Amino acid sequence: MREERILIVDDEEVICNVLDRRLTKEGYLCTTAHNGKEALNLFYQNSYSLILSDIKMPEMSGIELLQKVKAIDPKIKIIMVTAYPEIDLAVNAMRQGAYDFIIKPADLDLIVMSVRKALESKRLEEEIETYHTRLEELVEERTAKLQQAYRYLKKSHLDSVKVLAEAIDAKDPYTRGHSDRVKRMSLAIARHMGFSEERLETLEYGALLHDIGKIGIKDNILQKEGPLSREEYEIIREHPLIGVKIVEGVEFFRDKIPIIRHHHEFYDGSGYPDRLVGEAIPLEARIISLPDAFDAMTSARPHRGVMPLQDAILEMEKCKGKQFDPKVLDIFLREKIYKL
Ligand SMILES: [Fe+2]
Repeated sequence: MREERILIVDDEEVICNVLDRRLTKEGYLCTTAHNGKEALNLFYQNSYSLILSDIKMPEMSGIELLQKVKAIDPKIKIIMVTAYPEIDLAVNAMRQGAYDFIIKPADLDLIVMSVRKALESKRLEEEIETYHTRLEELVEERTAKLQQAYRYLKKSHLDSVKVLAEAIDAKDPYTRGHSDRVKRMSLAIARHMGFSEERLETLEYGALLHDIGKIGIKDNILQKEGPLSREEYEIIREHPLIGVKIVEGVEFFRDKIPIIRHHHEFYDGSGYPDRLVGEAIPLEARIISLPDAFDAMTSARPHRGVMPLQDAILEMEKCKGKQFDPKVLDIFLREKIYKL
């Protein structure tokens, strides 16, 4: 166990010696000073666990010493020993952080007891502090590990969905990268609309998976060169509902269902599958339908080449308020999101 250092301060030499002898006998390492100033100098040069101090002393009083010492080391224990049993002085000392006060002529056993109690309380306070620091470090460490694991999980999750999106795109070789482009443009529009991070994330997954229902459409229809028959067109129109069926059993995809289901609704109500009108169409679906249509126009198709950008923009403008939400279209065109 470490040796506890005690500083004894009293202007009466005899008292200093008596206290010094007794406390040294108790196993403490004692130093004496005869006034506050001397004590303060010693305090600056050494480290003490406890100060046992008189109150009324020449040059610097015990109260002044107490204030100066506590300002530097708030954890140090100070016991006031005073020949002046004015209750005001004692109360003042306690209020300023003294651990205890003892009235002279002091019973030495009482002083030893008070010193032991003070040092035990200091030891406990230090133990609690160490424990708290360790606990904080531990919490910080665990939080960092958890956050890392969460980031890793989220990334692997997104990666799996990206693989799924690529599988959807691969069903139709002419739409390679389509889901990713729709995702990028949709997120850009939504950021201009002030979406929260959480809502952006839902949109991101929804955009990547909006055509997941195409997995259930036969390749010979999806990849058909030349115009589709009415029946084939009807089959293709089933992909939003097939998509819903694919994901509806998975909790994580539940909030992406409206995007998957309604990405082919038209603002004027002439879309599918539910012929929703205007703002009855979920905003996320109204957003996705724009880059979805734009990307289809500007990608090469089996029966036609790539539509020039300006023609595609003109085509989009023609559909304002019909196929597309005018507000979303305005952002798409004004912010030149099609250039992403
Ligand atoms: Fe679609």
